Amino acid sequence: MKTRIYKLSETQVSEEDIDALGSILKNGGLVAFPTETVYGLGGNALDPMAAKKIYAAKGRPSDNPLIVHIASVQDLEVLARDVPEKAYALAEAFWPGPLTMILDKKEGVPAETTGGLSTVAIRMPNHKVALELISKSGIYLAGPSANTSGRPSPTTAEHVAEDLRGKIDAIIDSGKVGIGIESTIVDLTGETPTILRPGYITKEMLQRVIGKVEIDEAILEENKDKNFTPKAPGMKYKHYAPKGELTLVEGDEDSVIDTINLLASEKVSDGFKVGIIATDETKASYAFGTVKSIGTRSDEDGIAANLYEILRKMDEISVDFIYSESFFEGHLGQAIMNRMLKAAGHRVLKC
Ligand code: TXA
Ligand code: MG
Repeated sequence: MKTRIYKLSETQVSEEDIDALGSILKNGGLVAFPTETVYGLGGNALDPMAAKKIYAAKGRPSDNPLIVHIASVQDLEVLARDVPEKAYALAEAFWPGPLTMILDKKEGVPAETTGGLSTVAIRMPNHKVALELISKSGIYLAGPSANTSGRPSPTTAEHVAEDLRGKIDAIIDSGKVGIGIESTIVDLTGETPTILRPGYITKEMLQRVIGKVEIDEAILEENKDKNFTPKAPGMKYKHYAPKGELTLVEGDEDSVIDTINLLASEKVSDGFKVGIIATDETKASYAFGTVKSIGTRSDEDGIAANLYEILRKMDEISVDFIYSESFFEGHLGQAIMNRMLKAAGHRVLKC
């Protein structure tokens, strides 16, 4: 299949292109689209065949449900039933934005889209191109991240093309995304709203709007060895895995530098290729391997935005081992480390 690339910037969304892309979707085709978090792989959420194509293109297990992207709060009622007041309060506070809500689904949402669950994940992305595409085409976009299953989520259209060129109808190129890690997922179907995946919208931000919020205990690092099953099926897979073996090194700055230098020198002298994920503050202190900075520690948003790109770069240069500094702190610490710990298969070295 030939994959067409459409360049569309948020400041200049061509109506003609949106029409062409809408036609692809209406005919059951797949279009990768930009959002503020990561690129999504879109298909008609109400068409079971489109959902099947999405799973096939990504090589994704079909029990892992898709997020449905909408362009107006009224669409909630079309897809979900018994929508609680808290959902409207969260929509008012954070939509369009990086928050996905789990609600009880209406019958019209096919089991293929929800991985057989009776609930549906819904989000309104904060990206003009995505919103125009959804509202003009009238199609709700089932959209997982537009990567091959198991690879880092795409933060540029080039990443999407690396994984999906030839497998989907079109890719919209709107440049690098803003946030760089996937949306926060909050489940509103139980007694207490529960975070199933951490993201840019934190527990504290949600609590300011709707009161008590819990975090799914299965995703907490301290419970990683207990056999809890995560409530978001996708969280049980080893995600975002670079090809090289990634180890996170945690401790004070000097110990981290010394430890990484020691480990890297050993591997290099054994004939392996080594990559190091450093920061602007520390990159000059590493003496072995290929050193890449993820950004400055004073700009946490920048670190989040560069995370997946740096993991992909490590793949490109085919390193055997990757050593990375840790980023547990700050507003985004939990979301960043959740992704990094998964990429590392929870390999953390404390020093
Ligand atoms: O930022 C994002 O959320 C991006 C952009 C494209 O919107 N999308 C994204 O989709 O990250 P995906 O498919 O890579 O991750 C969706 C996650 C999976 O972990 C899935 O298991 C969970 O959402 N999920 C979807 N529907 C669910 C449901 N009904 N109940 C529980 N978890 C659900
Ligand atoms: Mg994903």
